[in-house]
Amino acid sequence: MKIKTFLFAAGASSLLFSCNNQETVEKKAEEHVHTHTVEDVHTYAKPEEAVVTHLNWDANVNFDTKTISATATWDIKTSEDAKQITFDIFDLNVSKVTVDGAEANFTVGDFDENMGSPLTIDISPEAKKVAITYTTGDNARALQWLDAEQTAGKKKPFLFTQSQAILARSWVPTQDGPGIRFTYDAKVKVPSDMIALMSADNPKERNETGEYTFKMPQPIPSYLLAMAVGDVQFKAISARTGVYAEESLLDTSVYEFSDLENMVQAAESLYGPYAWGQYDIIVLPPSFPFGGMENPRLTFATPTILAGDKSLVSLVAHELAHSWSGNLVTNATWDDFWLNEGFTVYFEHRIMEKVYGKDYSEMLASLTRQELIEAAHDMMETMPNDTKLKLDLKGRNPDDGVTSIPYNKGYFMLRLIEEKVGREKFDAFLKNYFETNKFSVMTTEQFLDYLEENLLTKEQMDELKLNEWIYETGIPDNLPVVKSNRFNVVDTARGQWLMTDILPMEELTENWTTHEWLHFINGLPRKMSTDKLAALDAEYGFTKSGNSEISAAWFQPTIRSNYEPVYGKVESFLISVGRRKFLTPTYKALIESDKKDMALDIYKKARPNYHAVSRETLDELMDYHQEK
Ligand code: BES
Ligand code: ZN
Repeated sequence: MKIKTFLFAAGASSLLFSCNNQETVEKKAEEHVHTHTVEDVHTYAKPEEAVVTHLNWDANVNFDTKTISATATWDIKTSEDAKQITFDIFDLNVSKVTVDGAEANFTVGDFDENMGSPLTIDISPEAKKVAITYTTGDNARALQWLDAEQTAGKKKPFLFTQSQAILARSWVPTQDGPGIRFTYDAKVKVPSDMIALMSADNPKERNETGEYTFKMPQPIPSYLLAMAVGDVQFKAISARTGVYAEESLLDTSVYEFSDLENMVQAAESLYGPYAWGQYDIIVLPPSFPFGGMENPRLTFATPTILAGDKSLVSLVAHELAHSWSGNLVTNATWDDFWLNEGFTVYFEHRIMEKVYGKDYSEMLASLTRQELIEAAHDMMETMPNDTKLKLDLKGRNPDDGVTSIPYNKGYFMLRLIEEKVGREKFDAFLKNYFETNKFSVMTTEQFLDYLEENLLTKEQMDELKLNEWIYETGIPDNLPVVKSNRFNVVDTARGQWLMTDILPMEELTENWTTHEWLHFINGLPRKMSTDKLAALDAEYGFTKSGNSEISAAWFQPTIRSNYEPVYGKVESFLISVGRRKFLTPTYKALIESDKKDMALDIYKKARPNYHAVSRETLDELMDYHQEK
């Protein structure tokens, strides 16, 4: 069976899905056989009237004014009676629009703080190309313009984009829904001492002109549009993998990611060929708000994964896995976000198992499980509905849906299915799923249909309580159990130390990896005696650890127990790192342990370094209103 997306000839902003193969769009719309419509509430686009198919982007990146000036020329496909085409924009200053070369009327509709504004352009059904000339605004949320001091080299500024979920519209006028795909090419002009890179085929060297051209021949949704501009260099890891980083981080990065080719091969052996040609990683400056972002051909990564011992490379496995789950088979709307992230966490763990062995990957799964239980527990009090796998983000920022749930509850539901049918069957199913649905979109409901047609009986689905997993709050009682012998050892050692003050023997701990230490720290009481914390710190040096995950974990019991020796490190960490996953729990710990003043003092210093994405979350957490 093949599931395809069809655009239909009239109606609201929706996409029509069908479960059988038909030639024409109109036929589809008439037949209504096994079809249902899906509304994407986070785009103003009306693809059924006119939809984009290809982008030609001609841009100039200006570091003095911190703006991008560009013309986006879109190839479009229209319905028979199309009168307008609608784009999403966010704080873009549109100066001119042409349709097939002739100047055209356009209107910018009301601004919504999540959605931005609709840009509506008059067209006829014959229209083929729409060109929009514009400059980005001061509130371009996808863009972070960094001063030289915020980079490793401290000599040249830096720019990077973050388009997911609906921020692409703040740097390119686009039909900004995950269900709309297009190919692109681009010509980008940057200062001649910098290189420009995109989610496309990329230059390996800087040139003297500062002008770069790009081609992305595989269709992508606009949340995967990406660009980075800075003083970075490339080093190959294998024929098709490599890393871009500032010079001072390049060798470290090559070492850290030296298993990259092995990971790609592991992934391919599981679920079929890598579809995107080259796979590179760019190490961004520390203000990057995420751990990683799966921009096609060029994963964006935080430098906080450069631990020096490859201990945090599961993040690379995660972003690589998105080359299948997410980038090939894409969540139809942000309410179906778990289809991107849950599948990716599952796939990530499978890659890690293949490359580093099962006892290693089961430690990761165990950490995932603890995180899920804690997050679900907290969320049940504040936002229970967001503990459903299928989200309801209407009228909200899709960023609200980025919690542990789509990632880890999604992962465990897939693991539950694997445990039911056995790995062999599940792997064959998944491989087929990616192959059958590549370069198209998937809704939660379509996935359930697909599951029933290809893997499970209705009875089995009921037995596994899949409806409860997807449509109900909390964690079902059949959450798979993870057994990690390596963690059992840690639990015993920690328990003993808590009771007796006897630290685990060195023969035991000398072989512990970062994950065992994380488990050790995560299992400490949230509030405990500072003497005991000091004893640990003296022995294992957690406060001065250079491993970002260890630091963030260590901040929890120490901040909550008022362990003062950690405060200096907390401050320097919060000022230098912009990764939201670390910032939120650390600021939370300060607030919840009566140190709101300290949190605010640090935040005032650190905030200018943070990306808008992190700022928005933290402003709310801290109830912070910028002084004008
Ligand atoms: N695609 C996400 C990042 C994202 C999600 C950005 C939603 C904006 C909106 C990326 O693949 C991701 O999940 N990153 C994680 C990595 C981790 C789970 C290994 C992160 O940044 O922490
Ligand atoms: Zn992800």
